[in-house]
Amino acid sequence: MAFGMNAFRIDASTGSKRRSLDKAWLEAWIARKETLERQWTEPRHYTELRDETMQVRTDLKLVALIWAVVAATQAFAAGDPARGEAQVAACSACHGQDGATGLDPTYPNLAGQNEAYLTGQLRMIQSNERNIALMAGQLTGKSDQDLQDLAAYYAALPAKLSQAQGDDEQIARAEKIYRGGIASKGVAACAACHSPKGNGNAPAGFPAISGQSSAYTIAQLTAYREGLRTSDEAFGGMMRGVAQGLTDGEIAALADYLQGLN
Ligand code: HEC
Ligand code: HEC
Repeated sequence: MAFGMNAFRIDASTGSKRRSLDKAWLEAWIARKETLERQWTEPRHYTELRDETMQVRTDLKLVALIWAVVAATQAFAAGDPARGEAQVAACSACHGQDGATGLDPTYPNLAGQNEAYLTGQLRMIQSNERNIALMAGQLTGKSDQDLQDLAAYYAALPAKLSQAQGDDEQIARAEKIYRGGIASKGVAACAACHSPKGNGNAPAGFPAISGQSSAYTIAQLTAYREGLRTSDEAFGGMMRGVAQGLTDGEIAALADYLQGLN
């Protein structure tokens, strides 16, 4: 088994550049736990994030995943923001002129979101793999280049931040989960993938999650938990796994905390 670009399958049916993580590959990689433990005893960056309470196995899975995704997305082709701007009139009606003032507070901010994530979501929304009824028809007839250009346009806009509304106790509770996860329930630390400040991981295509309205975040985390949002398939279903251990109260606390995280 080769551990390189083979981690990803190119979607031959659509001929698109979309890659999805090969689960068999990931499992084989994790099976080399012994070797990994020696190689990654104290990986840089990760040491700071790792909470003592997290299980080693989960840590290794995360490190393996991040490493594989980063390695495979380095050749990511950039879209053209100017050509993207020429297409956004219809989008602005819902997502706002600045890409961050939605018509409804439950609509997501797109401004400053990373390009790889946006491109991936647009492809999935277009193919209906991620079903968004309100966006039906919006992407019909657009080429893959159009989607990349739209993603580049929104990625280049300045991100907007809001403020947490919860009391100190609730914010502390959310912060603890965000930074350290919940070991007893197998909830991985959000910071490991979404970065300590919620900016995500642009090369890997992990989304920025700070500044989104709490209503949007609550809806997404609940949808992952209930298996209604499956757009994380290319990432081995990682967000469904994470959300599974979260209660409604924990989701609400995290969503509020994320509004102002910076
Ligand atoms: C009629 C309103 C509407 C229009 C028009 C619209 N969107 Fe959306 N869009 C939404 C809603 C609502 C969601 C979130 C749905 C959900 O809860 O999953 C969304 C989600 C998205 C997402 C996923 C964001 C994320 O963080 O995962 C992207 C990307 C996106 N829209 C881009 C666009 C682009 C580009 C256009 C124009 C071509 C557009 N939208 C037009 C309503 C709209
Ligand atoms: C192992 C990496 C990883 C961990 C840990 C993780 N996430 Fe994610 N998260 C992702 C990826 C990858 C996506 C994009 C998946 C997709 O395409 O649907 C995502 C998507 C999301 C989204 C949807 C963003 C949007 O714009 O629609 C939210 C919200 C989110 N994560 C919150 C969290 C929270 C809160 C935690 C901690 C409890 C967490 N994540 C832990 C990798 C991770």
